[in-house]
Amino acid sequence: MLRVAIDGPGGTGKSTIAKAVAERLGLEYIDTGAMYRSIALKSIRLSVPVDDEPKVIEMLADTVIDFNDNKVYLDGEDVSGQIRTNEISMAASTISKLGPVRAKVDEVSKRLAATKDVVMEGRDIGTAVIPDAEVKIFMTAAPEIRAKRRYEQLVAAGKPANLEEIKEDIEKRDYQDSHREINPLKQADDAVYMDTSDMSIDENIDAVCAVIADKTGRDV
Ligand code: DC
Repeated sequence: MLRVAIDGPGGTGKSTIAKAVAERLGLEYIDTGAMYRSIALKSIRLSVPVDDEPKVIEMLADTVIDFNDNKVYLDGEDVSGQIRTNEISMAASTISKLGPVRAKVDEVSKRLAATKDVVMEGRDIGTAVIPDAEVKIFMTAAPEIRAKRRYEQLVAAGKPANLEEIKEDIEKRDYQDSHREINPLKQADDAVYMDTSDMSIDENIDAVCAVIADKTGRDV
């Protein structure tokens, strides 16, 4: 079994790297943040406040989330494109504080990791979702660099973007994600720390593959 857990704050390039590594090694790529984002999208669509736990629980009872073939499905609808906005980033961070929301995403994530070899990325994969993962990486980068990367991602996707706003949101989200009560963003004791500030995408992919080779003895 090979389960690669990649955790770290937003905008570190985790998704790009995790996806590329999964492809190179023939593993399944699972983006757990996309599932939190989908739940946030549904709450916005239904005007359910993201911090109103009883109302969110009610909504969750009637919500099916799945991740398959690099796409996230909300009640059977592919919402992969709609969840990549600044508004959804913040809403996902806030709604992910709620225990029932975390339990729902955990259940799907754990089921996926139990049946397939995966590269799974998020905030709490190495600490809570797959604590016994064969490979754990904690990926980070300087906040200014992360803001710039997110800005470039949004511009490339033809979405509205403001660098200053993105920077503020990143700081706010970092704080929220690392200070929440349940399974906050935190490096697992046995995770390899990787600062990607000065790495190109290819260097970053190679660095992750080198850790996998080192931890598993595989030739990657
Ligand atoms: O990785 P992302 O930016 O798509 O994640 C969106 C939000 O979802 C993030 O700010 C916090 C939450 N999240 C989480 O709490 N746990 C995870 N494993 C993944 C994401």
